[in-house]
Amino acid sequence: MRFELYSEAPLELSCDLVALCAFEGKLQDVRLFQELDRALSGQLSAVAAEEAFSGKDEQRLCVHTHGQLKAKRVLLVGLGPREGFDVTDTRRYGARVADESRRRGAKRVGVALPPLDPSANERAAQFLVEGTLLGEYRFERYRAEAERTKSSLEQLDVLAPNGCDALSLARGQVIADGVRLARDLVNEPPAALTPRKLADAARELARDKDLECKVLTPKECEKLGMGLFLAVAQGSAEEGRFIHLTYRPKGREQPKRRIVLVGKGVTFDSGGLSLKPTASMLDMKTDMAGAAAVLGAISVLPALGLQSEVHVLVAAAENMVSGRAYRLGDVYRGMSGISVEIANTDAEGRLTLADALSYGLTLKPDEIIDIATLTGACAVALGPHIAGVMGNDNAAIERYLGAARRVGEELWQLPLPARLAEQLKSEVADLKNIGERFGGALTAGLFLKRFVNSTSWIHVDIAGPASAEKGKDHVPRGGTGFGVLSLVEYLAARDRS
Ligand code: BES
Ligand code: MN
Ligand code: ZN
Repeated sequence: MRFELYSEAPLELSCDLVALCAFEGKLQDVRLFQELDRALSGQLSAVAAEEAFSGKDEQRLCVHTHGQLKAKRVLLVGLGPREGFDVTDTRRYGARVADESRRRGAKRVGVALPPLDPSANERAAQFLVEGTLLGEYRFERYRAEAERTKSSLEQLDVLAPNGCDALSLARGQVIADGVRLARDLVNEPPAALTPRKLADAARELARDKDLECKVLTPKECEKLGMGLFLAVAQGSAEEGRFIHLTYRPKGREQPKRRIVLVGKGVTFDSGGLSLKPTASMLDMKTDMAGAAAVLGAISVLPALGLQSEVHVLVAAAENMVSGRAYRLGDVYRGMSGISVEIANTDAEGRLTLADALSYGLTLKPDEIIDIATLTGACAVALGPHIAGVMGNDNAAIERYLGAARRVGEELWQLPLPARLAEQLKSEVADLKNIGERFGGALTAGLFLKRFVNSTSWIHVDIAGPASAEKGKDHVPRGGTGFGVLSLVEYLAARDRS
């Protein structure tokens, strides 16, 4: 699909469909609505009144123009009350326009920006493009050709009579591609995305985007002392892989900052010997969504020309049951030298992350961020749409929350109460890998905290929002790519400070 800016008079656009939106009860305030209505001799407002279209959220109205206009159809999209609307909701609008275009078989579509202050135009245009591409996303490569959703959209003209930078459209496309990459990785069946395949995907990405890529085999990880990561990986017939991608800003001797991103990359989590029941195991191909998010994020950085050096680390493993699987009561030592007693093999993510964090510290970063589908407890606490954020640096957490808010990903800060760390004490080792049931997201965070020392660190638990059971608007069913948007916005904002 092509995206173009259309800065002529909107009525001049020849297209299959022209879309505009309105806040609830404010249809008549939209100038383009008035222009179209006039050109249609008042039929648009007459139909809107008959069909009780008032701009309520979810309302849509499509009217044929029967040759009275250069546009074949006019689509009205309701955005709900003005007060409740955030510019990031422009993605919903874009997704609904794409959906309606597909239903109507529209190829060329003109879309008006939401009636916001013109200072919001650039972001609105970016989010509009993102919403269209993300709403059209489907994972259908394993379905019969005839069953696949066909998009008809060929060109989308963003109507911006008072000007808009074409870069905003390009930015939207690049970022949507990053999210779509993350979704693809999450949605692949676990047999198709083993740790080795994930490493292949990282290599391919590195080739495409001119990133550095290093992949360590279990032998090489053993030399580095990654006993915790390897303990998780050893039960599977599929070997683990440690993935290290690097983005370096071009033409700059000293990068602005060095930031390490760690993603949890458990390609399938059976629970190990602490085996999960079927219902809990069903969606555990999603357990590499953190890895998908950091890969999606780094894929965007070259196009943005980021001035910081960014490392992406993934300790990719499959948590399985076998005669070689790690046991309860076993003690392993990771790269940090800290020994861990295994009290539950289903608390595997923190073990893989611990070694990735230790490896990350050797890069001497200014900041380290990990993102992981770490605990069911976090999803219980915050529900299916909101991620938890913890860390040892409140200023960094505030920055992250700010970035997430600007791009419309929902996060909520959770505490890391020192008292709960008592629960991680072991009789036989330095640490135990689980605490008690209540506060499970926090003890997981406290476990990780032991491995980061004094480096500024943020931990994002995406167990809830990593995948969607039911799709809506720009977030179809399945892997959501959650995290890519916030990470990219965080890194870009870090560059500017
Ligand atoms: N991958 C799971 C967490 C998870 C649960 C992600 C639901 C997405 C949806 C993680 O490895 C896990 O199994 N955590 C355990 C921790 C427990 C054993 C302390 C959990 O949440 O039950
Ligand atoms: Mn687990
Ligand atoms: Zn897991």
